[in-house]
Amino acid sequence: MEELRVDATGLELRLAAAAAVAREAGLLARGLFESGLAATLKSRQDYVTAADARVERFIRARLAALFPGDAIVGEELGGVGSARTWVVDPIDGTANFAHRHPGFAVSIGFLDGGVPAAGAIHVPMTDTLYTARLGGGAFRNAQSIAASACDLPERAYVELGYSPRSPRADYLRTLEALLDGGMLARWSGSAALALAQVAEGSSDGYLELHLNPWDVAAGLVLVREAGGITSDFFAGEGATAGNPLLAAAPAFHPVFANAVMDALAGSPLARPCHGLPGGGH
Ligand code: IPD
Ligand code: CA
Repeated sequence: MEELRVDATGLELRLAAAAAVAREAGLLARGLFESGLAATLKSRQDYVTAADARVERFIRARLAALFPGDAIVGEELGGVGSARTWVVDPIDGTANFAHRHPGFAVSIGFLDGGVPAAGAIHVPMTDTLYTARLGGGAFRNAQSIAASACDLPERAYVELGYSPRSPRADYLRTLEALLDGGMLARWSGSAALALAQVAEGSSDGYLELHLNPWDVAAGLVLVREAGGITSDFFAGEGATAGNPLLAAAPAFHPVFANAVMDALAGSPLARPCHGLPGGGH
């Protein structure tokens, strides 16, 4: 992929666009949520509603009008990345949305030369907007946020996401290791929201054994700009096939990563090419 970099003004403009479009799309999603839409299954436990494609079309139209030279990749309508790529999840947490649960979010990330450079996550039901760009800090409703100071497993509140895309045995072994290590683990159904919570310090870490780029493109920038540490999600085939993701508060990261590495020893998911050992931005 050609290594083009947008300049500081270009990145600032894209962050402002991501923020405005994510909020507009979030309010559209909220209206559709309140009107009650039927959900169908793409595959086992993989929901889709008419809102997903509708919100994605809205986001695409806005971004294409503002930045006609940028590529757009979205969960529902696909697309191919380029040197400047928007990565869009119109409704992350579709299972929550489909079950009338408010834990869903709109996620819009921007990759510059394959590097997550700006992102916005809007939580429609609370009208909360998270934003970040490389080198510019992380914000919730324009207030600066930071990852937690947690450094002890017995104090840690983490999230371990799951989908049938990864082996159940690996998930169960990982969950057991986290609980054995004294951590409290939950799974609330939106990776984007979970990453925003690591960034604001209301969660100490997030792990999922397979995620897609649209789940994480915005959240990675938020966590890193809030002082957190993430694995290198876009290593290898991450941009097309996805990867595992580990994200954590800085002092807690080594504890969390070690617990997971032990649990996954021998699993192909622990191979360095998947970026799980973490470290490095
Ligand atoms: C899902 C959510 C969920 C995660 C799954 C994702 P979707 O995305 O982020 O938290 O555990 O792996 O597929 O289907 O709600 O957009
Ligand atoms: Ca998603």
